[in-house]
Amino acid sequence: MNKFIFSVIMVCMGFACQAQDIALPTPNKTGGKPLMDVLNERQSTREFSDKDLDLQTLSDLLWTAYGFNRDGMRVVPSANNKQEFTIYAVLKSGVYVYDAKENVLILKVSGDLREKAGKQDFVAVAPLNLVYVADLNVTSKETANADVGFIAQNVYLYCASVGLGTVVRGWFDGNDIKTAFGLAENQAPILAQTVGYRK
Ligand SMILES: Cc1cc2nc3c(=O)[nH]c(=O)nc-3n(C[C@H](O)[C@H](O)[C@H](O)COP(=O)(O)O)c2cc1C
Repeated sequence: MNKFIFSVIMVCMGFACQAQDIALPTPNKTGGKPLMDVLNERQSTREFSDKDLDLQTLSDLLWTAYGFNRDGMRVVPSANNKQEFTIYAVLKSGVYVYDAKENVLILKVSGDLREKAGKQDFVAVAPLNLVYVADLNVTSKETANADVGFIAQNVYLYCASVGLGTVVRGWFDGNDIKTAFGLAENQAPILAQTVGYRK
């Protein structure tokens, strides 16, 4: 077999490669503004430009939200280390699941479904909405409600560090999201968070 074709097949097998998945660059895990500065600058934004985030920013942002920082352990704590969340990233091109191990966004639904991610106008304008979906087979809704706060706050702090706008949101229709994203019965959207450049 041609050496090139063989390598492509091997790469695709290794990364469970699908044409429309988004391979992310390795996240930057150092630098950023000092903690006291980002705490001083953290705030909610509700006016966004539709300018896309570049892949490095997307990768860094998702790592701060739910990446691994030790062997099998996340940047955020979770009660009994249940790690019950899956982060859905809603981009203009589709709805993706963040796979932190492989550092890839796995396409779940193609097309622009941003308006499904919330009830406020800016949701369909901003380039990215994150939806924090808990597996209620793994833990209770009450516990998920507590654990999600760490994820959302990490995203707030990352956004403050790099000058992006963000707002965490509870105002969305969970059933709409479940249907649009094709979620299973046990998968519950707990909070959403819009991210983008401030207008
Ligand atoms: C659990 C939770 C749910 C929220 N839901 C929404 C929401 O649906 N829409 C919105 O615009 N802001 C929402 N917010 C943002 C708050 O309104 C905001 O944090 C608060 O007004 C304080 O402003 P600050 O974040 O700029 O300090 C929510 C915040 C939290 C913690």
